[in-house]
Amino acid sequence: MNGSNAQAAQRVKTLRGLLEHHNRQYYVLDAPEITDAEYDALFRELQELEATHPELDDPNSPTRRVGGGVAQAFASRPHRLRMYSLDNALTGEEWTAFLERLGRVLPAREFSFWADPKFDGLALEVIYEDGRFVSALTRGDGETGEDVTGNMRTVRNLPLDIRDHAAKAKLPVPRILEVRGEVVITKKDFRALNEAQDEAGAKVFANPRNAAAGSIRQLDSAVTASRPLKFFAYGIGVTEWPLGDPWPTQRAVMEGLSKLGFTIAEQGRAVDAAGVEALYARLEQDRDSLPFEIDGMVVKLDRLDWQREAGFTARAPRWAVAWKFPPRQARTVLKRIDVQVGRTGVLTPVAMLDPVSLAGVTVSRATLHNEDEIRAKDLRAGDTVVVQRAGDVIPEVVGPVLELRPQDAEEYVFPQTCPSCHEPVKRLEGEAAWRCLNLSCPAMLKGSIIFFVSKAGLDIEGVGKRWIEILVERGMVKSPADLFGLTAEDLLELDRMGEKLAGNFVASIAQAREKATLARLIGALGIRQVGTQTARTLAAHFDDLDAVGAASAEELQDLPDIGPEVAASIRAFFDNPANHELLARFKAIGLWPRRAAVEAALGGPKPLAGKRFLFTGSLEGLTRNKAESMVEALGGVVAGSVSKKLDYLVVGQDPGSKLDKARALGVQVLSQDDFERLARGETLSS
Ligand code: IVH
Repeated sequence: MNGSNAQAAQRVKTLRGLLEHHNRQYYVLDAPEITDAEYDALFRELQELEATHPELDDPNSPTRRVGGGVAQAFASRPHRLRMYSLDNALTGEEWTAFLERLGRVLPAREFSFWADPKFDGLALEVIYEDGRFVSALTRGDGETGEDVTGNMRTVRNLPLDIRDHAAKAKLPVPRILEVRGEVVITKKDFRALNEAQDEAGAKVFANPRNAAAGSIRQLDSAVTASRPLKFFAYGIGVTEWPLGDPWPTQRAVMEGLSKLGFTIAEQGRAVDAAGVEALYARLEQDRDSLPFEIDGMVVKLDRLDWQREAGFTARAPRWAVAWKFPPRQARTVLKRIDVQVGRTGVLTPVAMLDPVSLAGVTVSRATLHNEDEIRAKDLRAGDTVVVQRAGDVIPEVVGPVLELRPQDAEEYVFPQTCPSCHEPVKRLEGEAAWRCLNLSCPAMLKGSIIFFVSKAGLDIEGVGKRWIEILVERGMVKSPADLFGLTAEDLLELDRMGEKLAGNFVASIAQAREKATLARLIGALGIRQVGTQTARTLAAHFDDLDAVGAASAEELQDLPDIGPEVAASIRAFFDNPANHELLARFKAIGLWPRRAAVEAALGGPKPLAGKRFLFTGSLEGLTRNKAESMVEALGGVVAGSVSKKLDYLVVGQDPGSKLDKARALGVQVLSQDDFERLARGETLSS
């Protein structure tokens, strides 16, 4: 190796170390030490070096964490040690029975256990050789799993190299270490993911487990990389240590894995036989407040030598049991199946139920997702059905109680015409959904106009969903642009519309036209795959909608967060002649915001020009959305997270962890008062 190559190799090594360190600070410890921009600069430097020095390639380089490879299919591979299932205990008696059985298998001793939450995610094994991550296999049938190595590499809290951790923990580096655990999506991340999917007109997931499993069993690793997945370790498979096994108990395993950089559930506890029941009761009580979904508690014998002595049945270990929580289920009658048409034309079947109380929540409807789901469960109107709340609040129809099926219950046939416009519907190849493709379908029109005025759109206050439905039904509004031509006299023709309401309605719409920012207007168009964040990205780079419409797919893909699919969707929107007409009308009525910087140059006071703001906690008399619009309208930028690039964190009641981060990074913290003063163009006295 010549001098410059050795130098490059050294720099590559340093950069990889730095990036992994900052990755961990951000994703595992939630305590970033550098700004996104600083991280990006290091990342890009490494990418460039790797491009010019292909000999330094490493599959575990942090640059590989963003995914990119698209697989044809997953290879099937055997587990070195079978991944067993667990026997369940459903009641206290069954727990006691487990304990007695264990006493017969291992007579005359005092047991202690390790208990941790039973995660409701996707079971998986990650394998390390000489301290480096080499592969990942799903549990599969226990004997063989699917090789999902490339996708697991994108899971940011998974350590790809445990050698430094081992050195710090004074542990030898294992020759082989197989770590078993579960990939999950937290409830909070799940809600945000589904909101973003919905906003972007993409598929929403039924529950966090499906979202996690679907994200891992996904052939495009860039998609996996974009999902908020977390790996929680709960045990080990094969291990080979250079000097003898340092982990004699399950407790030592868990503490050791944590020291090696793996995330473990903080609810895990060592407990003796007498304490298990109380721990179970507590975990069940805390269930709803845990960040991720769980469906029980797993209790494992602590000593690994005794585990080996007890061994396995055909299916499960004799030394562990999953003590499940009782299901939150109830029976009720499925009155009928309604079909709703969303703004993207997707037909969604909904179960209309006799209201039933389920763990404190009254359930009267539940989404049935699509035709296949109804067929698989064979649901029929009139059926008595079992409904459940899995972990979260989202109710689900489990299936019919066949013994109670009425004689005359007919098999459900999915409608072949749109329930709104009665045009034929289509099921596109490879999709589970039926769609209405009629661009002037009233249901789609209602949906898209409701979206246009909603919080995700222009956020026009006082223009409610019900009024939009009426206006569309009466033919008074056929496009979002029609809203701006409505007069108070027009509105007064409607039932229950008074002078005052009509006046407010027209005034709000006029105000929205004045105040609309480019980011909000782009978001309001409801372009598929373009949510709030992408709209902001576009609005920061283009001067106005004409400029966005003139950009090629390649130019669009040069922007952060925009991949080929999103770029294609943006192009499709602007290539559609019906949309040209819509935009021309917006321009004619003066709904034509420009990029904040351009607006500033054109005049009008922009006291927040160029400043980056973020909000935490609740504000008084001001919604988060309103505050963000204010920032944008006054020339500022709303940031996505706390970093050193942030100029101000505005703090309301009950601020979250953003406040600690901002303080740690030395970001200026403002009260709501200070913020409002800045917005009025006043200066802050320090
Ligand atoms: S230990 C020998 N611990 O439950 C089996 N499993 O019903 C040892 N699971 O597919 C498994 N959380 O993936 C264990 N804290 C936990 C768990 C857990 C979830 C899953 C596991 C397995 C399934 C068995």
